[in-house]
Amino acid sequence: MTKTYAVIGDSIAHSLSPHIHNAAFKELDLDCTYIAYRIPKEELADGLEGLKKIKIAGFNVTIPHKIAIMKYLDKVDEDCNLIGASNTISNNDGKLIGYNTDMDGFLEPIKKRNLKIEGEDVLLLGAGGAARAIVAGFAKEKVGVITIANRTKDKAVELRQFAQKIGVQTNAISLYEIGNNLSSYKFIVNATSIGLKNESTPLPTETINQNTVVYDIVYMPLNTDLIKKAKEKRATVIYGYEMLLGQAVRAFEIWHGIKAPYDVMKRTILGGF
Ligand SMILES: NC(=O)c1ccc[n+]([C@@H]2O[C@H](COP(=O)([O-])OP(=O)(O)OC[C@H]3O[C@@H](n4cnc5c(N)ncnc54)[C@H](OP(=O)(O)O)[C@@H]3O)[C@@H](O)[C@H]2O)c1
Repeated sequence: MTKTYAVIGDSIAHSLSPHIHNAAFKELDLDCTYIAYRIPKEELADGLEGLKKIKIAGFNVTIPHKIAIMKYLDKVDEDCNLIGASNTISNNDGKLIGYNTDMDGFLEPIKKRNLKIEGEDVLLLGAGGAARAIVAGFAKEKVGVITIANRTKDKAVELRQFAQKIGVQTNAISLYEIGNNLSSYKFIVNATSIGLKNESTPLPTETINQNTVVYDIVYMPLNTDLIKKAKEKRATVIYGYEMLLGQAVRAFEIWHGIKAPYDVMKRTILGGF
Protein backbone atom coordinates (compact mmCIF):
# COMPACT_ATOMS: atom_id res chain seq x y z
CA MET A 1 0.00 0.00 0.00
CA THR A 2 1.27 3.48 -0.86
CA LYS A 3 2.58 5.28 2.23
CA THR A 4 1.57 8.92 2.62
CA TYR A 5 3.69 11.66 4.20
CA ALA A 6 2.84 15.35 4.66
CA VAL A 7 3.91 18.77 5.82
CA ILE A 8 1.40 20.57 8.05
CA GLY A 9 1.35 24.30 8.79
CA ASP A 10 -0.20 27.58 7.74
CA SER A 11 0.79 28.83 5.27
CA ILE A 12 2.40 26.02 3.31
CA ALA A 13 1.37 26.82 -0.25
CA HIS A 14 4.99 27.56 -1.18
CA SER A 15 6.58 24.72 0.77
CA LEU A 16 9.37 22.96 -1.10
CA SER A 17 9.07 19.81 1.05
CA PRO A 18 6.60 17.92 -1.22
CA HIS A 19 8.93 18.46 -4.20
CA ILE A 20 12.03 17.37 -2.28
CA HIS A 21 10.53 14.18 -0.80
CA ASN A 22 8.61 13.15 -3.92
CA ALA A 23 11.81 13.50 -5.96
CA ALA A 24 13.59 11.25 -3.45
CA PHE A 25 10.78 8.64 -3.64
CA LYS A 26 11.01 8.63 -7.42
CA GLU A 27 14.79 8.30 -7.37
CA LEU A 28 14.66 5.28 -5.04
CA ASP A 29 11.46 3.86 -6.54
CA LEU A 30 9.63 3.94 -3.18
CA ASP A 31 5.86 3.47 -3.11
CA CYS A 32 5.30 6.69 -1.16
CA THR A 33 3.78 10.12 -1.68
CA TYR A 34 4.16 13.45 0.18
CA ILE A 35 1.51 16.18 0.35
CA ALA A 36 1.12 19.69 1.78
CA TYR A 37 -1.79 19.89 4.23
CA ARG A 38 -2.84 23.31 5.51
CA ILE A 39 -3.96 23.22 9.13
CA PRO A 40 -4.90 26.63 10.58
CA LYS A 41 -3.61 27.45 14.06
CA GLU A 42 -6.83 26.64 15.95
CA GLU A 43 -7.53 23.39 14.07
CA LEU A 44 -4.49 21.33 15.01
CA ALA A 45 -6.37 18.67 17.06
CA ASP A 46 -8.91 18.02 14.28
CA GLY A 47 -6.20 18.08 11.64
CA LEU A 48 -4.21 15.43 13.53
CA GLU A 49 -7.29 13.19 13.81
CA GLY A 50 -7.68 13.47 10.04
CA LEU A 51 -4.03 12.49 9.51
CA LYS A 52 -4.40 9.46 11.78
CA LYS A 53 -7.56 8.37 9.93
CA ILE A 54 -5.71 8.29 6.62
CA LYS A 55 -2.90 6.39 8.38
CA ILE A 56 -0.31 9.04 7.63
CA ALA A 57 3.13 7.40 7.84
CA GLY A 58 4.92 10.57 8.95
CA PHE A 59 4.79 14.33 8.67
CA ASN A 60 6.77 17.53 9.00
CA VAL A 61 5.48 20.38 11.13
CA THR A 62 6.04 24.03 10.41
CA ILE A 63 4.80 27.44 11.65
CA PRO A 64 2.53 27.82 13.68
CA HIS A 65 2.41 24.27 15.13
CA LYS A 66 5.99 23.36 16.11
CA ILE A 67 5.48 24.00 19.83
CA ALA A 68 1.75 23.19 20.06
CA ILE A 69 2.28 19.73 18.50
CA MET A 70 4.33 18.61 21.52
CA LYS A 71 1.29 17.87 23.68
CA TYR A 72 -0.16 15.46 21.09
CA LEU A 73 2.96 13.29 20.86
CA ASP A 74 3.27 9.91 22.57
CA LYS A 75 7.06 10.03 22.68
CA VAL A 76 9.70 12.65 21.81
CA ASP A 77 13.45 12.50 21.25
CA GLU A 78 16.11 14.34 23.26
CA ASP A 79 16.34 17.28 20.82
CA CYS A 80 12.55 17.95 21.05
CA ASN A 81 12.81 18.00 24.83
CA LEU A 82 15.76 20.36 24.74
CA ILE A 83 14.23 22.80 22.23
CA GLY A 84 10.59 22.38 23.36
CA ALA A 85 9.37 21.91 19.79
CA SER A 86 9.06 19.18 17.16
CA ASN A 87 9.15 19.39 13.36
CA THR A 88 9.25 15.73 12.28
CA ILE A 89 6.77 13.07 13.36
CA SER A 90 6.59 9.32 12.75
CA ASN A 91 3.28 7.47 13.05
CA ASN A 92 3.86 4.01 14.48
CA ASP A 93 0.42 2.32 14.44
CA GLY A 94 -1.33 5.39 15.82
CA LYS A 95 1.47 6.36 18.22
CA LEU A 96 3.08 9.66 17.28
CA ILE A 97 6.84 9.89 17.83
CA GLY A 98 8.38 13.38 17.64
CA TYR A 99 11.84 14.43 16.48
CA ASN A 100 13.48 17.81 15.95
CA THR A 101 15.74 18.13 12.93
CA ASP A 102 16.27 21.92 13.13
CA MET A 103 19.40 21.61 15.21
CA ASP A 104 21.18 18.94 13.14
CA GLY A 105 19.89 20.51 9.91
CA PHE A 106 21.54 23.77 10.94
CA LEU A 107 24.84 22.14 11.95
CA GLU A 108 25.16 19.86 8.92
CA PRO A 109 26.51 22.45 6.41
CA ILE A 110 29.02 23.70 9.01
CA LYS A 111 30.27 20.17 9.61
CA LYS A 112 30.38 19.45 5.89
CA ARG A 113 32.87 22.31 5.55
CA ASN A 114 34.91 21.06 8.53
CA LEU A 115 34.58 24.42 10.28
CA LYS A 116 35.54 24.52 13.94
CA ILE A 117 32.79 25.69 16.32
CA GLU A 118 34.38 24.88 19.67
CA GLY A 119 35.42 28.06 21.49
CA GLU A 120 34.40 30.35 18.60
CA ASP A 121 32.25 33.46 19.10
CA VAL A 122 28.94 33.98 17.32
CA LEU A 123 26.72 36.91 16.43
CA LEU A 124 23.17 35.56 16.13
CA LEU A 125 20.47 37.80 14.69
CA GLY A 126 17.01 36.76 15.85
CA ALA A 127 15.41 35.19 18.91
CA GLY A 128 12.51 33.17 17.46
CA GLY A 129 12.01 29.41 17.11
CA ALA A 130 14.87 28.90 14.66
CA ALA A 131 17.28 30.95 16.79
CA ARG A 132 16.47 28.73 19.78
CA ALA A 133 17.36 25.57 17.85
CA ILE A 134 20.55 27.27 16.63
CA VAL A 135 21.59 28.16 20.20
CA ALA A 136 20.99 24.52 21.18
CA GLY A 137 23.03 23.33 18.18
CA PHE A 138 25.96 25.61 18.97
CA ALA A 139 25.75 24.53 22.64
CA LYS A 140 26.11 20.89 21.60
CA GLU A 141 29.32 21.85 19.76
CA LYS A 142 30.76 23.80 22.73
CA VAL A 143 30.71 27.24 21.10
CA GLY A 144 32.40 30.26 22.77
CA VAL A 145 30.14 33.26 23.47
CA ILE A 146 26.93 33.89 21.50
CA THR A 147 25.77 37.49 21.17
CA ILE A 148 22.03 37.38 20.53
CA ALA A 149 20.79 40.53 18.76
CA ASN A 150 17.06 40.92 18.23
CA ARG A 151 14.66 43.71 17.20
CA THR A 152 12.65 43.04 20.39
CA LYS A 153 15.35 42.98 23.05
CA ASP A 154 13.11 41.22 25.62
CA LYS A 155 12.99 38.16 23.37
CA ALA A 156 16.80 38.16 23.17
CA VAL A 157 16.87 38.24 26.98
CA GLU A 158 14.42 35.29 27.10
CA LEU A 159 16.58 33.29 24.70
CA ARG A 160 19.60 34.16 26.83
CA GLN A 161 17.88 32.52 29.82
CA PHE A 162 17.39 29.35 27.78
CA ALA A 163 21.06 29.48 26.71
CA GLN A 164 22.19 29.84 30.31
CA LYS A 165 20.15 26.77 31.30
CA ILE A 166 21.94 24.67 28.71
CA GLY A 167 25.35 26.09 29.65
CA VAL A 168 26.17 28.60 26.88
CA GLN A 169 27.62 32.01 27.59
CA THR A 170 25.59 34.73 25.87
CA ASN A 171 24.98 38.46 25.61
CA ALA A 172 21.53 39.79 24.76
CA ILE A 173 21.33 43.06 22.84
CA SER A 174 18.98 44.84 20.49
CA LEU A 175 19.62 44.93 16.73
CA TYR A 176 20.54 48.58 17.17
CA GLU A 177 23.35 47.87 19.66
CA ILE A 178 25.52 45.69 17.44
CA GLY A 179 28.20 48.32 16.78
CA ASN A 180 30.41 48.65 13.73
CA ASN A 181 33.07 46.02 14.28
CA LEU A 182 32.06 42.47 13.37
CA SER A 183 35.60 41.12 12.97
CA SER A 184 35.63 39.49 16.42
CA TYR A 185 32.88 37.04 15.44
CA LYS A 186 33.82 33.81 13.69
CA PHE A 187 30.16 33.07 12.83
CA ILE A 188 27.50 35.60 11.87
CA VAL A 189 24.08 33.96 11.57
CA ASN A 190 20.87 35.57 10.37
CA ALA A 191 17.89 33.78 11.96
CA THR A 192 15.42 36.63 11.43
CA SER A 193 13.05 36.96 8.49
CA ILE A 194 15.09 39.89 7.17
CA GLY A 195 15.93 39.15 3.54
CA LEU A 196 12.74 37.28 2.66
CA LYS A 197 11.40 40.40 0.98
CA ASN A 198 14.79 41.34 -0.47
CA GLU A 199 15.40 43.88 2.30
CA SER A 200 18.94 45.11 3.01
CA THR A 201 20.70 43.60 5.99
CA PRO A 202 20.82 45.92 9.03
CA LEU A 203 24.39 44.71 9.70
CA PRO A 204 27.41 46.93 9.10
CA THR A 205 29.24 44.48 6.83
CA GLU A 206 32.45 46.52 6.25
CA THR A 207 34.51 44.56 8.80
CA ILE A 208 33.43 41.09 7.65
CA ASN A 209 36.52 39.39 6.24
CA GLN A 210 37.77 36.12 4.81
CA ASN A 211 37.93 34.51 8.26
CA THR A 212 34.23 35.13 8.90
CA VAL A 213 31.55 32.51 8.29
CA VAL A 214 28.25 34.12 7.28
CA TYR A 215 25.23 31.85 7.50
CA ASP A 216 21.85 33.21 6.37
CA ILE A 217 19.04 30.77 7.17
CA VAL A 218 16.60 32.67 4.94
CA TYR A 219 16.48 30.44 1.85
CA MET A 220 14.30 32.44 -0.49
CA PRO A 221 15.84 34.33 -2.25
CA LEU A 222 18.99 32.25 -2.46
CA ASN A 223 21.31 35.27 -2.57
CA THR A 224 20.07 37.56 0.18
CA ASP A 225 21.61 40.99 0.60
CA LEU A 226 23.68 39.63 3.53
CA ILE A 227 25.01 36.73 1.43
CA LYS A 228 25.90 39.09 -1.43
CA LYS A 229 27.78 41.48 0.87
CA ALA A 230 29.56 38.59 2.63
CA LYS A 231 30.72 37.24 -0.74
CA GLU A 232 32.14 40.67 -1.63
CA LYS A 233 34.22 40.43 1.56
CA ARG A 234 35.35 36.89 0.63
CA ALA A 235 33.75 35.41 3.75
CA THR A 236 32.73 31.75 3.81
CA VAL A 237 29.00 31.78 3.06
CA ILE A 238 26.42 29.17 4.01
CA TYR A 239 23.05 29.38 2.30
CA GLY A 240 19.66 28.89 3.95
CA TYR A 241 18.78 26.14 1.49
CA GLU A 242 21.57 24.02 2.97
CA MET A 243 19.79 23.95 6.35
CA LEU A 244 16.52 23.07 4.63
CA LEU A 245 18.28 20.27 2.79
CA GLY A 246 19.97 19.04 5.99
CA GLN A 247 16.57 18.81 7.68
CA ALA A 248 14.88 17.06 4.76
CA VAL A 249 17.67 14.48 4.59
CA ARG A 250 17.42 13.80 8.33
CA ALA A 251 13.59 13.46 8.17
CA PHE A 252 13.90 11.08 5.21
CA GLU A 253 16.35 8.90 7.10
CA ILE A 254 14.16 8.86 10.25
CA TRP A 255 11.13 7.72 8.25
CA HIS A 256 12.70 5.28 5.83
CA GLY A 257 15.78 4.02 7.69
CA ILE A 258 17.91 4.26 4.53
CA LYS A 259 20.38 6.82 3.22
CA ALA A 260 18.64 9.76 1.56
CA PRO A 261 19.48 10.59 -2.09
CA TYR A 262 21.25 13.85 -1.16
CA ASP A 263 22.15 15.05 -4.65
CA VAL A 264 18.65 14.55 -6.05
CA MET A 265 17.12 16.38 -3.07
CA LYS A 266 19.63 19.22 -3.47
CA ARG A 267 18.96 19.56 -7.20
CA THR A 268 15.21 19.64 -6.48
CA ILE A 269 15.58 22.45 -3.93
CA LEU A 270 17.80 24.51 -6.22
CA GLY A 271 15.42 23.95 -9.13
CA GLY A 272 12.64 25.40 -6.97
CA PHE A 273 14.16 28.87 -6.96
N1 LIG B 1 16.65 27.39 6.17
C1 LIG B 1 15.81 26.75 6.95
O1 LIG B 1 15.73 25.52 6.91
C2 LIG B 1 14.96 27.51 7.93
C3 LIG B 1 14.43 26.86 9.06
C4 LIG B 1 13.65 27.60 9.96
C5 LIG B 1 13.41 28.94 9.71
N2 LIG B 1 13.94 29.53 8.60
C6 LIG B 1 13.71 30.97 8.33
O2 LIG B 1 14.19 31.69 9.45
C7 LIG B 1 13.39 32.83 9.72
C8 LIG B 1 12.97 32.84 11.18
O3 LIG B 1 12.16 31.70 11.46
P1 LIG B 1 11.54 31.41 12.92
O4 LIG B 1 10.87 30.11 12.83
O5 LIG B 1 12.55 31.64 13.97
O6 LIG B 1 10.44 32.58 13.01
P2 LIG B 1 9.89 33.32 14.30
O7 LIG B 1 9.89 32.41 15.48
O8 LIG B 1 8.62 33.96 13.87
O9 LIG B 1 10.99 34.49 14.59
C9 LIG B 1 11.15 35.56 13.69
C10 LIG B 1 12.41 36.36 14.06
O10 LIG B 1 12.64 37.33 13.04
C11 LIG B 1 12.64 38.65 13.62
N3 LIG B 1 12.07 39.60 12.64
C12 LIG B 1 10.98 39.41 11.85
N4 LIG B 1 10.79 40.48 11.06
C13 LIG B 1 11.78 41.37 11.34
C14 LIG B 1 12.12 42.66 10.86
N5 LIG B 1 11.42 43.27 9.91
N6 LIG B 1 13.21 43.28 11.38
C15 LIG B 1 13.95 42.67 12.32
N7 LIG B 1 13.68 41.45 12.84
C16 LIG B 1 12.61 40.80 12.35
C17 LIG B 1 11.81 38.51 14.87
O11 LIG B 1 12.12 39.58 15.76
P3 LIG B 1 11.07 40.06 16.89
O12 LIG B 1 11.27 39.13 18.05
O13 LIG B 1 11.47 41.44 17.18
O14 LIG B 1 9.70 39.94 16.27
C18 LIG B 1 12.29 37.12 15.37
O15 LIG B 1 13.56 37.22 15.96
C19 LIG B 1 12.22 32.73 8.74
O16 LIG B 1 12.49 33.59 7.65
C20 LIG B 1 12.22 31.31 8.25
O17 LIG B 1 11.79 31.18 6.92
C21 LIG B 1 14.72 28.86 7.72
